[in-house]
Amino acid sequence: MAEIGTLDVFVLLGPSPTEVVRQYTKLTGTAHLPQLWALGYHQSRYSYETQDDAKDVVSNFDSNNFQLDALWLDIDYTDAFKYFTWNPSTYSDPVGLQDTLASTNKKLVTIIDPHIKAEDGYSVYDGALANDLFVKNADGSVFQGPCWPGTSSYMDFLNPAARDYYGSMYSYDNFPGSTPTLAGIWNDMNEPSVFDNSLEMTLPADGLHIGNVRHREIHNIYGLLHTIATHQGLLARDNGERRPFVLTRSHFAGSQKYTAFWTGDNTADWPYLHAALQECLNANILGLVFCGADVGGFFNNPSNELMERWYQAGAWLPFYRAHSSKDTNRREPYLLPEDSQAVIREAIETRYKHLPVWYTLFYEHTRTGDPIIRPLFYQYPEETDAYNIDSQLLVGADILVRAVYDAGATEVDVYFPGGENEVWVSVTSDDVQAGAGLVTVPVTRENSPTYYRRGAVIARKDTVRPNTVEMADDSHTLYYTANEDNTAHGTVYLDDGVSFKYRDESDFKYISIDVDGDNVSFTTIDGTGDYEFVVDTIVRRDIVSLPKGGNPGSYKETVFSRDANGELLKNIKIGSKGNVSLKLKY
Ligand code: GLC
Repeated sequence: MAEIGTLDVFVLLGPSPTEVVRQYTKLTGTAHLPQLWALGYHQSRYSYETQDDAKDVVSNFDSNNFQLDALWLDIDYTDAFKYFTWNPSTYSDPVGLQDTLASTNKKLVTIIDPHIKAEDGYSVYDGALANDLFVKNADGSVFQGPCWPGTSSYMDFLNPAARDYYGSMYSYDNFPGSTPTLAGIWNDMNEPSVFDNSLEMTLPADGLHIGNVRHREIHNIYGLLHTIATHQGLLARDNGERRPFVLTRSHFAGSQKYTAFWTGDNTADWPYLHAALQECLNANILGLVFCGADVGGFFNNPSNELMERWYQAGAWLPFYRAHSSKDTNRREPYLLPEDSQAVIREAIETRYKHLPVWYTLFYEHTRTGDPIIRPLFYQYPEETDAYNIDSQLLVGADILVRAVYDAGATEVDVYFPGGENEVWVSVTSDDVQAGAGLVTVPVTRENSPTYYRRGAVIARKDTVRPNTVEMADDSHTLYYTANEDNTAHGTVYLDDGVSFKYRDESDFKYISIDVDGDNVSFTTIDGTGDYEFVVDTIVRRDIVSLPKGGNPGSYKETVFSRDANGELLKNIKIGSKGNVSLKLKY
């Protein structure tokens, strides 16, 4: 339904799903690379009520050996829900809090909503009112409606001056107590949400934006405009030197250029875990690649088993954040029983080990528009059965994950795509499967079934450290299973993890990894940056037997840390000095 009577229709001719998505992202844009830290694990809560609580959570993550990149503050950190302020009694020393976080390489993210408390003397409100930057009623008076702060007015983000004004509030001067450790912003309630049923919980349809544009005409892009303002504000604050990180609830075609998003207030129940997968797969083929859902579920209290499974599945969605509502029990992973903690620790570690995969896929998205996580049909469009599978995802083309979202599951059906020549080698167990449609595989508590595609080279960082910052200079482990013709191929992308130099100065290295028999070669595909790709280990998994008659196949693993001449692999510098080949001793 188009309430205003007009609709723009674009026809994308494809014909394949890949081509449709690429055409669509040509039209609507691609995401820029996130800063590396944003791909780590995030911990949120509505709310960490005091700065001491916030510090305590972070130190408990460290002392219990859970990896963490960012702590999130929900609305209660503010002074009476006035954004760009801090609660003077509970967050009296925001700089101290940020310094504590920074001392262990963590970031802070705070929420900033689009409604502004209507209170004389609140400078953000006074300035917006004086400069005529709020949405109006049909009669031209400034709209006021209830939201978290009580009576509020709403920024008219259609007005470029309102975007400039709101964006400028992120400067260190206008947001006193913020420091560079406040590295990301969470834009919520931007449908926009108004706590008034008579208005269908949003701005009045006949409300007025700049140029007398009725709200009903731009309702769907309000959230997009909000994140544009925040994105430009963070860019300006950081002198363009850091890639902004914004998270939004409301989004539109093209939002990927400015923001990551999450799926909103879900519930701690199994069907919502399944829905997280479905929603983020959908989003990914619509260009909105940086998607996640509240790990554990926002409302209600999850069982320990659901928590474990949610951490496992969440590790394979692009945005990985746990969040929970006020009236739920505290559930930071270190509060769970030891056995659950062990399962969750492993899930988060799996995420961090695959950081090079995630980062490379984000880069490849900037080149092609390809989704980061993909439904099976995206890679196997000829396979009609694959179109029905929404319990699995492909991370890029090479990692197949079957999420477990049934209580008490001891086995699940996994669809192996690609026909009998496509072979899938288990990462979480010792089986080998081939593209033969649905196969029932056992599941353990520790793992959701995960497979690497034969013929792929997967670059990982297997040394576990507390966060992405401390892993930045770590060397890589390569995993592969060669095809029948003894070849395998992968890519890896390296840059500074922070700036836009990759985009503006070609300051990156994009490397092709090609295995041919006992020869492994590394060739620069693109980029002139001086980045060294250090590999310390190569793990080769050779197929011993292929699946047959309903029984899985098996593989044997050989681990190399030296080349055929006895040279330690990690001493062979790849990248900075042009292309490199090495031989393995078979
Ligand atoms: C909304 C958000 C939720 C947040 C809450 C308080 O319900 O979706 O994530 O915790 O508002 O800000």
